[in-house]
Amino acid sequence: MINISRILVCFVGYLMIPASCFPPDIQALSILERAAPVAPDGYTPAVVSCPAHRPTIRAATGLSTNETDWLPLRTNNTVQAMKDVLSRANISGLDTGRYIDNLTNAGTGLPRVAIAISGGGYRALMNGAGALAAFDNRSTNATETGHLGGLLQSATYLSGLSGGSWLVGSLYVQNFTSVESIISATDGFLSTIWQFDHSILNGPDGLSITKYYRQLFDDVDGKRDAGFNTTITDYWGRALSYQLVDPSDGGPAFTFSSISNDTDFTSAQAPLPLIVAIERTSGQLQIASNSTIFEFNPWEMGSYDPGLEAFAPLQFVGSNFTNGSIPRNGSCIAGVDNAGFVMGTSSSLFNQAFLQIGRVEGVPEFLISAINATLANVGTENRDIANWPNPFFRYNSSGNLNANSTVLALVDGGEDLQNIPLHPLLLAEREVDVVFAVDGSADTATLWPNGTAMVATFNRSEARVSSNDSRFPDVPDQNTFVNLGLNQRPTFFGCTNGSNTPRGPLIVYMPNAPYSFQSNVSTFDLEYSIEERNQIIQNGYNMATMGNGTVDSNWPACIGCAILARSLVRTRTRVPSKCADCFARYCWNGTTNNTLPNTYEPAQILANTTEQSTSSAARISGTLLLGCFAFMLAI
Ligand SMILES: *[C@@H]1O[C@H](CO)[C@@H](O)[C@H](O)[C@H]1NC(C)=O
Ligand SMILES: *[C@@H]1O[C@H](CO)[C@@H](O)[C@H](O)[C@H]1NC(C)=O
Ligand SMILES: *[C@@H]1O[C@H](CO)[C@@H](O)[C@H](O)[C@H]1NC(C)=O
Ligand SMILES: *[C@@H]1O[C@H](CO)[C@@H](O)[C@H](O)[C@H]1NC(C)=O
Ligand SMILES: *[C@@H]1O[C@H](CO)[C@@H](O)[C@H](O)[C@H]1NC(C)=O
Ligand SMILES: *[C@@H]1O[C@H](CO)[C@@H](O)[C@H](O)[C@H]1NC(C)=O
Ligand SMILES: *[C@@H]1O[C@H](CO)[C@@H](O)[C@H](O)[C@H]1NC(C)=O
Ligand SMILES: *[C@@H]1O[C@H](CO)[C@@H](O)[C@H](O)[C@H]1NC(C)=O
Ligand SMILES: *[C@@H]1O[C@H](CO)[C@@H](O)[C@H](O)[C@H]1NC(C)=O
Ligand SMILES: *[C@@H]1O[C@H](CO)[C@@H](O)[C@H](O)[C@H]1NC(C)=O
Ligand SMILES: *[C@@H]1O[C@H](CO)[C@@H](O)[C@H](O)[C@H]1NC(C)=O
Ligand SMILES: *[C@@H]1O[C@H](CO)[C@@H](O)[C@H](O)[C@H]1NC(C)=O
Repeated sequence: MINISRILVCFVGYLMIPASCFPPDIQALSILERAAPVAPDGYTPAVVSCPAHRPTIRAATGLSTNETDWLPLRTNNTVQAMKDVLSRANISGLDTGRYIDNLTNAGTGLPRVAIAISGGGYRALMNGAGALAAFDNRSTNATETGHLGGLLQSATYLSGLSGGSWLVGSLYVQNFTSVESIISATDGFLSTIWQFDHSILNGPDGLSITKYYRQLFDDVDGKRDAGFNTTITDYWGRALSYQLVDPSDGGPAFTFSSISNDTDFTSAQAPLPLIVAIERTSGQLQIASNSTIFEFNPWEMGSYDPGLEAFAPLQFVGSNFTNGSIPRNGSCIAGVDNAGFVMGTSSSLFNQAFLQIGRVEGVPEFLISAINATLANVGTENRDIANWPNPFFRYNSSGNLNANSTVLALVDGGEDLQNIPLHPLLLAEREVDVVFAVDGSADTATLWPNGTAMVATFNRSEARVSSNDSRFPDVPDQNTFVNLGLNQRPTFFGCTNGSNTPRGPLIVYMPNAPYSFQSNVSTFDLEYSIEERNQIIQNGYNMATMGNGTVDSNWPACIGCAILARSLVRTRTRVPSKCADCFARYCWNGTTNNTLPNTYEPAQILANTTEQSTSSAARISGTLLLGCFAFMLAI
């Protein structure tokens, strides 16, 4: 895998011109626009001057003013895209343009759309990327008949968890560019992110393995020397950043909070990104279904759940907050919220795959020792944590389960089996009408989803962990998902039959299924050829559009009806017959069949597509200790 001559050329060249180590395409990357590298000292958090209004912790009694100020701007910006999507949906019996205009003029209740991208490693990233490409009116042909372009531009929220957070985070640090512009390499302008043919264990093309690991080591070492608690998740987040943020040096200074300064974001040209992780209280090993669920957005991190009910300003999370504020003589610290560290936190289960580097040739011993050192003081059952400085220290001691700890341990957002980041979208104050829930989980023995994530969110809702959880609709058991094919085609959950008052949003469940490619690759495959990457993304596109409407020509209209479903109830508008047909066809009607199904081996749905490449020879998968990871297979 390692090209010795390249290393030599690079090494010699480096002594003269450092840039010669990077092929021309990596140098060209600097012209790509993105979120800002504004951390004070690369990956090392450092003191910055405090803003005039000193940062404080806020009680999560409602949405932040940042969000409530931003929402009307976003709503306004979604109007045209939504009208376009609905117009192309061609819902006979309703003048959708007029309907939306009426809502706009009345100043009330434009349908609010959210998209959620599940976890599941690179598979989930790629499947989700295909769905987002299908929803994006910037994709080639996405506004043709049968396609769904504009749904992304109609969306107010876009959430991601674990592998899904890699997609969401990566797009935002790349200035919310389109999936297509990342994957379609054209002459003279080659994208250098998402090069999954270069395994994360070997580092990106153009960077020697020695230099790659030296940078990983130095970045994390700097943070530790500055007095911050580091774990293997720091190394993992740094490594991810070479694939998702910047292949030359992993963009050590890119913060997630810098998105809040991006003009396209502040003017609400893009939906609000939400990244999900889970809090672990001290001594807690199993992630219980009532765990406190964290969200990161560009302004804040924290939770609306009863175990915390507080938010911290993300940019200043490393400051010495005590009981909600920074002491008068205390300083403001910035740079903890490195973008890759946020993504690494949401996907911290995968950091253990990183232990595979012990098998990669050329990894310097100092790096292995450093990783070993971070593992030494935690038990094996604690290896999945990301340690954040706890901004909620001594805050709300009665309700805050981690109030007495200076370290805040966060883990992979899917560890409670809620592998689709629905939780933040169920919050009543967010008033979401419909969630397009893209599920790239590997639940069945054959690595396809079977509704486990939906069942987990439903169970939490039944347990009434927080009042918002009651806003999730009924879903059936996993056997029913498989027996009724609900894991093979999109299904609507939470349909009302007119008489019921809806609780929470309509959920449009969109499971990964083999439309044009057997995209059920292992969660722990760390390497994909570019061809295979593109095939999985294309499959995701086909999954979202149901083969560009070839499987069901009504599908775009049914998407339109899903957008309108809650609004029609609100405005007491008669459901157009087209939508009634869609609801009859796509709503789960309460039927169950919980007999144990046979092994789930779905046939390819679209005929006549490109030949499959059955395996990528260089897969690392075989070397992964799958047995050790068996418990993670649901993620
Ligand atoms: C981000 O992309 C938009 C187009 O979508 C462009 O107008 C803008 O200049 C870009 N932002 C930066 C900071 O380059
Ligand atoms: C709403 O959007 C329209 C078109 O995008 C724009 O011209 C108008 O200024 C916006 N209004 C507000 C209040 O932001
Ligand atoms: C828009 O509002 C007008 C006046 O209230 C009403 O007559 C019309 O039916 C509405 N149109 C739609 C499509 O809702
Ligand atoms: C777009 O549609 C045209 C006409 O159907 C087709 O030839 C072309 O391959 C499509 N391009 C993509 C990227 O799908
Ligand atoms: C980091 O925090 C953990 C848990 O609080 C603790 O066990 C460990 O000793 C700390 N490590 C360092 C280097 O401070
Ligand atoms: C936004 O930009 C201003 C001006 O450069 C800077 O002071 C501030 O720290 C930035 N905010 C974030 C969250 O990065
Ligand atoms: C979950 O429930 C258990 C048992 O009722 C309780 O001890 C624990 O504090 C709860 N955890 C959270 C995060 O609410
Ligand atoms: C969020 O809003 C608060 C209060 O208006 C403000 O002080 C803070 O700077 C805002 N945060 C960001 C990142 O813009
Ligand atoms: C943080 O602030 C508290 C007082 O609120 C103080 O006791 C403590 O020493 C400070 N810690 C650091 C690391 O500055
Ligand atoms: C790291 O830990 C592993 C497993 O405990 C051990 O086999 C290896 O020798 C250690 N390597 C170094 C460089 O400390
Ligand atoms: C934190 O410590 C205080 C004082 O020792 C105690 O009253 C409180 O119950 C503790 N809180 C938690 C969540 O352990
Ligand atoms: C569904 O997925 C769960 C989690 O992986 C698994 O335990 C269960 O056996 C699966 N059931 C079916 C019917 O696929």
